[in-house]
Order: sequence, then structure tokens, then C-alpha cells
Amino acid sequence: MDSECLDLIRARRTVRRFTPQPLRPDEVEAVIEAAMYAPSRLNRQPWHFLIVEDPEVKHEIAEILRVHPYIEEAPVLVVVCGRPASSPTWLMDISAATENLLLAATALDLGSAWVAAPDTTLWSILEEHLRWRLHIPQDIRMASVVALGHAAEHPARHERAERFDPLKVHYGAWERVGASQELAAGGGAARR
Ligand SMILES: Cc1cc2nc3c(=O)[nH]c(=O)nc-3n(C[C@H](O)[C@H](O)[C@H](O)COP(=O)(O)O)c2cc1C
Repeated sequence: MDSECLDLIRARRTVRRFTPQPLRPDEVEAVIEAAMYAPSRLNRQPWHFLIVEDPEVKHEIAEILRVHPYIEEAPVLVVVCGRPASSPTWLMDISAATENLLLAATALDLGSAWVAAPDTTLWSILEEHLRWRLHIPQDIRMASVVALGHAAEHPARHERAERFDPLKVHYGAWERVGASQELAAGGGAARR
């Protein structure tokens, strides 16, 4: 099935090399705006986005996460934050926002990478460091960093054959006798 939106979703890939070309402020704002159109439980919108362009801070983030060189290469890092007191589903809500951000970047012909996740050892160290370094309030959690810039590598767009897994789709119940084989043989919605 084809549509501009489905095309965009297939074209989004994680980019881990960036050119030195800076981003325009309107490009950065456009992807953040897109992030804020994400759904959130009870429409609480518990997200905050911290834009990092300072090379020193980028280097510190790269060092702590041990992710080189693209964290330093990316002209912009977005630290995706949430306010747990606003919603128990803050992490889901800001994850939806993050995906919107990545898709908007793709639409603007920018490269992006979603880096790291909360509650891992290195992340906890980074969170503590950034809280101090960038004056992030105590009631705000950081969940990931999105590296953003002009791509210096162009991973192939996703294709159905490479990614769509019919065995991970469960229609009606987890398993019907014979259903997996039917789907694996190329069935699915059209067959039912
Ligand atoms: C929660 C989360 C954390 C991720 N952390 C990293 C990371 O630390 N380093 C990295 O290179 N990619 C990271 N990624 C990107 C994944 O590696 C990438 O999405 C996956 O390999 C599929 O490739 P694609 O994005 O091109 O479809 C992360 C993605 C998610 C959703």
C-alpha cells in the first residue's frame, strides 16, 4: 500500500554519520513542533526538549555514553525529557513524541538517531551529569538523546520483505491452528 506518509515511515532510518552543515533554527523548531503533535494519555503532553549545540556538552555526552563520533558530529542533540509527575505514562508519551520527531526530520531530509534509554548504567550517569550541567530541574527525567543533522550516510529505506514479520501479528487470538503457516505463506488480511 502506498501513501506519502507510509513512504516517509519506510524512509526513516537511523543515521550515525553527519556532515558539518548546521541546522537552521526553523528546521529545529519544525521537528520539535511535530514531536508535540504526538498522542499522550489524557493529553497531558509531559514532554520537554532540550536543544544542545555546544560542542563541549556534546563531547561530554559522547564520552559518557561512549558513542563516537556521531554524537559530536551532529550539529544538534535533542535531549528528550519528561515530567513523571504529569503522567504515569510519561515515558510512552515522550516516546511517541520522539518517533514524530524522527519522522519529521526524515520529511525535512535530515538524518536522525535515537540514542540510549533511561535506567541503564551509562544513562543514569549522563542524566546526573546533564541535570547539573544544564540546570535541569529535579522533577524532570531525561529519556534519550536524538542526534540531528544532515546525513553523511544514507541507509537504505525499509522494505516490507526485510521488516514486516507476519508471525508477529496475531489476529483475533494469539494463535489459531494453521494460522501462522497461512500468514507465513503470504496470507494475512487478504486471506481472512
Ligand atoms: C529506545 C531506543 C534506544 C536506542 N539507542 C540507540 C543507541 O544507543 N545507539 C544507536 O546507535 N542506536 C540506538 N537506537 C536506534 C536503533 O539501533 C535502531 O532504531 C534500530 O537498529 C533499527 O534501525 P532503524 O532505526 O534504521 O530502523 C535506539 C532506538 C531506540 C528506540
